[in-house]
Amino acid sequence: MGRSPHPNNPPNLQDIWQFMLTFKAIRQTQFGGPEVLVLEELPIPQLAAEDVLIRVHAASINHFDVISRRGDFPGVPLPRIPGMDCSGYVEQYNGKRTDLSVGQPVVVLGTTLGNGGSGGYATHVCIDQEEVFPVPSGMDLTIATCLGMTYLTAWYALKQRSPLQVGQILLIPGVGGGVGSAALQLAQALGIRVIATTSSAAKRQQALALGAEACFNYREQDVVQAVREWTQGRGVDAVLDAVGGDSIQQGLNCLRKGGQLLSIGIVRGDRFTVDAIAFLSNEQHLLGVNVGQLTPGDRYQIFLQLVDLIQSGKLTVTIEHTFPLEKAAVAHALIESQEQFGKVVLLPHG
Ligand SMILES: NC(=O)c1ccc[n+]([C@@H]2O[C@H](COP(=O)([O-])OP(=O)(O)OC[C@H]3O[C@@H](n4cnc5c(N)ncnc54)[C@H](OP(=O)(O)O)[C@@H]3O)[C@@H](O)[C@H]2O)c1
Repeated sequence: MGRSPHPNNPPNLQDIWQFMLTFKAIRQTQFGGPEVLVLEELPIPQLAAEDVLIRVHAASINHFDVISRRGDFPGVPLPRIPGMDCSGYVEQYNGKRTDLSVGQPVVVLGTTLGNGGSGGYATHVCIDQEEVFPVPSGMDLTIATCLGMTYLTAWYALKQRSPLQVGQILLIPGVGGGVGSAALQLAQALGIRVIATTSSAAKRQQALALGAEACFNYREQDVVQAVREWTQGRGVDAVLDAVGGDSIQQGLNCLRKGGQLLSIGIVRGDRFTVDAIAFLSNEQHLLGVNVGQLTPGDRYQIFLQLVDLIQSGKLTVTIEHTFPLEKAAVAHALIESQEQFGKVVLLPHG
């Protein structure tokens, strides 16, 4: 990211000015509960020619931020600034790209933000130009930041990894989560029928209002029985599972013969066992989905198609709550309480 001046090349005035600038960020020096997310003031790093300094408008929170905060994901370095999604305005850029002029609204769609590199929970982000893309005019920047991980993953799963056709039935377990709610809204836009599960009566109502044809409470109902009854014994055509753990076998039990389960998340754990006899007898398909396989350029192409859907009124983004930067711990606690429906977003400049 930033470079220190070489000892043989004394810093010029701009370098000195740069060293005097600071930014605010949520910095984590240990793994643990939400309280390890602490607001700090840090020096803005010196930019390399290929770096862009972004004044962050919005940073959306993803489940990865939560499990990596806890230390439940391998290989996460400390200290770190979390946050895999952010949008904002170009504040400084000395590189050659003409679409990154100062003041340009941009979104970060990369693989390093908050995942090895510094994240979006900050007033400013300094990041390689390869991960930064212009946001089309008229597009709300708070909504743009929500498209990065969850909507983009739902698109990749439903459009590029699944043979699902218009009119077929998709089951979304845990529809209240970021990926789950994004998949519901996107499936609607693509003409795919959706049934879902969730954990409360209020979230069930929200899912139905957003177009799910049925929604079962996984805390109160036998989900497999409910889905089998609803599909008159046939089972659903596909399951988009961002929950993981024992949700995988449950999803396979809801799937028709020859159907496909897309495994995306590990909220309920990163291990599962499968009833092999039922699985092979029914010739089902189990597919892992990893949006990390996409290059930043591939992500931008999907992002632009999502923007088209939003601007043509075919897709809406559900934002449950926005918080100022210093309330990052409260925002994480909200996500862990599982009371949200859709996205939770930090607005570092209020
Ligand atoms: N593979 C990829 O490329 C990729 C990309 C993005 C995210 N992910 C992963 O996808 C997962 C979800 O991310 P997220 O940001 O959507 O998380 P999130 O917003 O925290 O949502 C998690 C949801 O899991 C649901 N859930 C919890 N226990 C459940 C159970 N027993 N049965 C059914 N649902 C249950 C809850 O749904 P209700 O609210 O409805 O109860 C909860 O809202 C994470 O593991 C994340 O790392 C993977």
